[in-house]
Amino acid sequence: MEIKAAVLYEPNRPLVVETVQLDDPSDGEVLVRMAAAGVCHSDYHVMKGEWSLPLPAVLGHEGAGIVEKVGPGVGRVRPGDHVILNFRANCGRCHHCVVGRPVLCDGIETPRSGLFDGTVRLHRDGNDINHMARTACFAEYTVVPESGAVPVRQDMPLDKACLIGCAVMTGVGAATNTARIQPGANVAVIGCGGVGLNAVQGAALSGADRIIAVDVLDNKLEYARQFGATDLVNAGNGDAVARVTQMTGGGVDYAIEAIGRSSTIQQAYEMCRLGGLAVIVGMAPEHDTIEINALSLPRTERAIVGSYYGSARPWVDLPKLADLYMNGRLMIDELISRSYKLEDINTAYDALGAGEVARSIIEFS
Ligand code: APR
Ligand code: ZN
Repeated sequence: MEIKAAVLYEPNRPLVVETVQLDDPSDGEVLVRMAAAGVCHSDYHVMKGEWSLPLPAVLGHEGAGIVEKVGPGVGRVRPGDHVILNFRANCGRCHHCVVGRPVLCDGIETPRSGLFDGTVRLHRDGNDINHMARTACFAEYTVVPESGAVPVRQDMPLDKACLIGCAVMTGVGAATNTARIQPGANVAVIGCGGVGLNAVQGAALSGADRIIAVDVLDNKLEYARQFGATDLVNAGNGDAVARVTQMTGGGVDYAIEAIGRSSTIQQAYEMCRLGGLAVIVGMAPEHDTIEINALSLPRTERAIVGSYYGSARPWVDLPKLADLYMNGRLMIDELISRSYKLEDINTAYDALGAGEVARSIIEFS
């Protein structure tokens, strides 16, 4: 079928919104009509050439829609199901899937820029187009592996559901699944974009006492207050580590980094109290490294852990987050600063780059 999609041909060039061809779903695949997609920083990393992805590619990995058609052998989803896209579609059989860590699935050997069988469903004039994260949802329709389309309750609004697919799961999950924040703990969140704001609300859901939001932009810190931050630190006005350490009398129990920069990852480690845990969510440019004083590890018993996609079990956690939203326990409406049409996606990314928004979404009509 012919669909409209946003294609990246070269890093540091605008996305091209154009008509491309999308094949029918093959074995174990699902065709989804997109309702909404989130404008996330991860696609921006690809647009800026910080992460490699074979190009051309249709970007977008945070989305929700309605199943239009299923391929042979699909048993878990049906046409008409409302789904949140899971950008870590998994095999269900490898060690990591079996032990309950599906986001670490390594059972599929083909690149994540196509479907499980190693081919793509997107083409233009006979040339192949790759799929960002096997999701490619900056498009009116997409074909994804069955495990990448997770059904949710039909009363969950899809324009809100799309953000559960990345920002909400990644941020809330970093606090609840990866860090397992204890009630009464003190927490710092460095970076209050779409992901960090959700780490703030994940800390609040976990019953944290002080939640210190750190950003360089005051508008982001104000959003953080709305999401449950008790203290705001503008890292542009002096040493954030010293301020957090002083405010908490020795450092926080958990520091969550949601930017993806070596310097702020080091800050997260340094603002933890003795025995504290630094949780690294932000995804740095591919070749960056961090420096940590080696002796400080045994001396402080601090730990540093990565958190990918909020250590999600998507088939359990995505519907659960939808329930929390529907029960009034999770803020998503407040996260959506703007809504754009697919044609205006480059403007949406300019606004993200300029730090103007908490999150914006693309809505397909
Ligand atoms: N100190 C503190 N805050 C900073 C700094 C800094 N040195 N530099 C940038 N920030 C803040 C920005 O002001 C912004 O509010 O970090 C925030 C980043 O937010 P977004 O650009 O909205 O990014 P988001 O989509 O939340 O993703 C954050 O998580 O999943 C990953 O790939 C994603 O690496 C990205 C990170
Ligand atoms: Zn994302």
